[in-house]
Amino acid sequence: MITTLTPSCPPSGRGAAKVLLFGEHSVVYGQRAIAVGVDAGVTAEVGATRSARLEVPAWGIDVRPGDDHPVARAHAALLEALGLGGSAWDLRLTADVPPGAGLGSSAALAVASARALLEAAGERADDARVYDAAMAAERIFHGNPSGLDHAAAIRGGIFAFRRGEPPEVTPLRVGGPLVFVVAQVEPGASTRAMVEGVARRLSDVGTAKAPLLESFGAIVAEAIGAIAEGDAPRVGRLMDVNHGLLVSIGVSTPQLDEGCRVARSEGALGAKLTGAGGGGCVVAVAHPDDAPRITQALAHRFGLCCFMHRVAPDA
Ligand code: PMV
Repeated sequence: MITTLTPSCPPSGRGAAKVLLFGEHSVVYGQRAIAVGVDAGVTAEVGATRSARLEVPAWGIDVRPGDDHPVARAHAALLEALGLGGSAWDLRLTADVPPGAGLGSSAALAVASARALLEAAGERADDARVYDAAMAAERIFHGNPSGLDHAAAIRGGIFAFRRGEPPEVTPLRVGGPLVFVVAQVEPGASTRAMVEGVARRLSDVGTAKAPLLESFGAIVAEAIGAIAEGDAPRVGRLMDVNHGLLVSIGVSTPQLDEGCRVARSEGALGAKLTGAGGGGCVVAVAHPDDAPRITQALAHRFGLCCFMHRVAPDA
């Protein structure tokens, strides 16, 4: 008798973290943003036991359904949306990004979980189903998510995004390699509080509100052109201007400004805060030869999560 041994891999799924390269905050007002789904993210593995436990050791999370914890509530919403409400699979998640730092960690978690659970159930993990379920989970955290983090977590790659029902997601042409360095410089702030602060700031500037928001949108349009041409130095200069606009609406901090300064002084072509601001991360674009040195300098200065991401040009 011939016995074939098949390796038994547990069902698993992956969700990419995201980095906003341009257009945070103005995207809330209908302007476009540019995001990239990065290699860093979250991997979910279904365990052998069935006690409906969800563990993310890197974030100190260990919950079960019914626990008074936002992750437990979000997971219950995810299971419900997947039609797997009664199931009790255990999930163990490995995260290589920090939570709450503007890197789309909760969307990566939800997408990874949905993919692993659908595989465990023997069902197809098609993107639309994963997106809807992950959005149901995200509403527990953010009330009214734009869907940007979920698009990045599911599809990866670099794309332009405009809010809407459904949102507009446009993959971007990339004319040459682009290397980004991402570094957390301090704990993140509440996205909701930052968005509310921006609304107040914009109402203070009266008739300058519309042209200010259009300036953010114009920078995004220029950046789409620079990315298509593979013109990294110009992408960098546009990031610097975008950061200046974000400073003007009150979402930067001394640490975020310092992160940009350190990156630029080590040779970055440009740098800005990324995400909601008030803390969290900076992103810089760099010549490939300079990126390791910039990464090292930021890791040394801030001692927090720091990684590089390379966007390959179109074939
Ligand atoms: O830091 P994050 O990933 O929560 O980014 C929020 C981006 C905002 O434009 C500030 C808000 C939004 O809903 O788009």
